[in-house]
Amino acid sequence: MLRRGDPKICDTVAPVEVTFRRLADVDLPMLHRWLNEPGVVQWWEGDDVSWEAVVRDYGSTSGDSTEHWIATLDGTDIGWIQCYPAADEPEETEPWFALGIDRAAAGIDYLVSDPARRGRGLGSVMIRAFVINVVFGIHPEWSQVCAAPYAKNLASWRALERAGFRFIGMIQEADGPCRLMMADRTALASGPEQGTSLVP
Ligand SMILES: CC(C)(COP(=O)(O)OP(=O)(O)OC[C@H]1O[C@@H](n2cnc3c(N)ncnc32)[C@H](O)[C@@H]1OP(=O)(O)O)[C@@H](O)C(=O)NCCC(=O)NCCS
Repeated sequence: MLRRGDPKICDTVAPVEVTFRRLADVDLPMLHRWLNEPGVVQWWEGDDVSWEAVVRDYGSTSGDSTEHWIATLDGTDIGWIQCYPAADEPEETEPWFALGIDRAAAGIDYLVSDPARRGRGLGSVMIRAFVINVVFGIHPEWSQVCAAPYAKNLASWRALERAGFRFIGMIQEADGPCRLMMADRTALASGPEQGTSLVP
């Protein structure tokens, strides 16, 4: 847990380099553990995170267009982040397009695995590095990147803001209002170098 007075990563001047590798089947027990952590479960309420479902949805035989990545810091796995073509998930993304998002956009979802490491600037650094290096870095076909966290998930949408995303509009989901956030290549082209901390 973040304690009053603890330094944030973004308040330090030491560079922080988050790197990414593709999720492999050998990572599934770890991902299963992460997805069942209560601080994560609360935001994916209703999702099946049983072992069988994790193998089915995240394993190498899942066969969908979503890419799953593991984020690493100083040799330690610190999070999971996925990206997908928005057009492939119409049920979720039609409201994005109605608010003016490009059909060639990507979507992302993410978590910082250790609750003790949340709220210290790590999530925003991870998201920014992922968008620069993976989403836009290896996908020339994607013009924008979006996420739509629940409005009550402050840490999530504020981490997106800090990573360079901007608010587009509200979307009503069955479980409550969500804030649609978007970044494009231009927004991420300036500012801190990829993989470094966000020095104020
Ligand atoms: C969402 C998540 C990845 C964000 O990463 P993080 O390392 O906690 O976020 P950061 O420390 O970079 O925080 C970014 C901003 O959110 C704020 N914040 C962080 N935790 C907060 C909390 N619990 N309550 C309110 N604000 C919070 C920070 O103060 C910061 O805002 P600021 O720049 O305006 O000060 C992480 O909290 C997490 O994994 N949560 C559980 C899974 C989840 O919710 N995933 C997203 C689903 S859409």
